Amino acid sequence: MKDGAELYHCINAQQFNRGFLEEISDLADKIRQIANTKAGNEYLASTLNHKRAMLYFVQPSTRTFLSFYSACQILGIKCAEVRDPKTSSEVKGESEEDTVRTFSSYFDLIIMRHPRANFAEKIAAMLDNTDRPVPVINAGSGKDQHPTQALLDVYTLRRSFKHRGGIDGKRIAFVGDLLRGRTVRSLATLLTNYEGVKQYFVAPPEFQIGQDILDYLDKHGASYEVTGDFEAVLPEVDAIYMTRLQDEWDAQDHTSAKIDIEHYSLRERHLQVLKADAVILHPLPRRQEIDVAIDADPRAGYWRQVRNGMWVRVALIAMIFRRQRNILEYYLNNNL
Ligand code: CP
Repeated sequence: MKDGAELYHCINAQQFNRGFLEEISDLADKIRQIANTKAGNEYLASTLNHKRAMLYFVQPSTRTFLSFYSACQILGIKCAEVRDPKTSSEVKGESEEDTVRTFSSYFDLIIMRHPRANFAEKIAAMLDNTDRPVPVINAGSGKDQHPTQALLDVYTLRRSFKHRGGIDGKRIAFVGDLLRGRTVRSLATLLTNYEGVKQYFVAPPEFQIGQDILDYLDKHGASYEVTGDFEAVLPEVDAIYMTRLQDEWDAQDHTSAKIDIEHYSLRERHLQVLKADAVILHPLPRRQEIDVAIDADPRAGYWRQVRNGMWVRVALIAMIFRRQRNILEYYLNNNL
């Protein structure tokens, strides 16, 4: 994809290039400025008030669901939701594909979270071959992809490094359950769009990043290190991206309970060795891997990340429906 003018479905991180990342980040910045006034909010709420969206979330979510819901509200889009397939005709044996095709009869946008990898991609392809194709946004698919989280992570990194030359040349560590962490997989992919970035994958061997991601990084000439040495990496990095144990994927046999991940936790004592201007990120939800006391440290960026997610998702939906030019005109005409 060259720029937002080509955006339709949002399925995986590989579809976005540097130009797109700059465009969506700039647009998100402008939208949040427009939203500072009542008149600005009323303008935004008029931009897509003829559209309807279905939020089909059959995996648990707090942030992604609510930020998409809020993003739709900001743009005036009316929302409906299915969060529990037991309330849909899937209990009568209807396939998930037919369920989603039904949504496309009533809604102009489908935002979906699903446990199956590639399901959003399959649905997008299926809808493209119907007489009512609608855009599909992947809000998290299996252990594989979470592209909109990666977009908000890039936006947060960009804002964090605004006065330090941007994301180019930065050292970024991913810590925790990297094998099953779809946010890490998507963000590691997006970071290949930046020059001179070095990525560190810090995890016990059982939870290390998948070879497919390392192959992607190799193909794009990205620099990285795979290590289990959490303490050694801490002083080196400009950003540290913590993640939780993703044990919902082994709920049957609890295999991951046997692996010690406690060591891969950020404690107050670590703040002394982190760079003074480093940024600490986490897609959330968290468990024990970041001390709550760290929230008060100015380097803690994860609550800003939560808020940023809403603005990036407003920008994404505006771009899908080709409203970016109108929004930029409003921004300029109102001297913002
Ligand atoms: N980061 C994220 O995807 O959070 P939720 O699971 O709460 O949506």
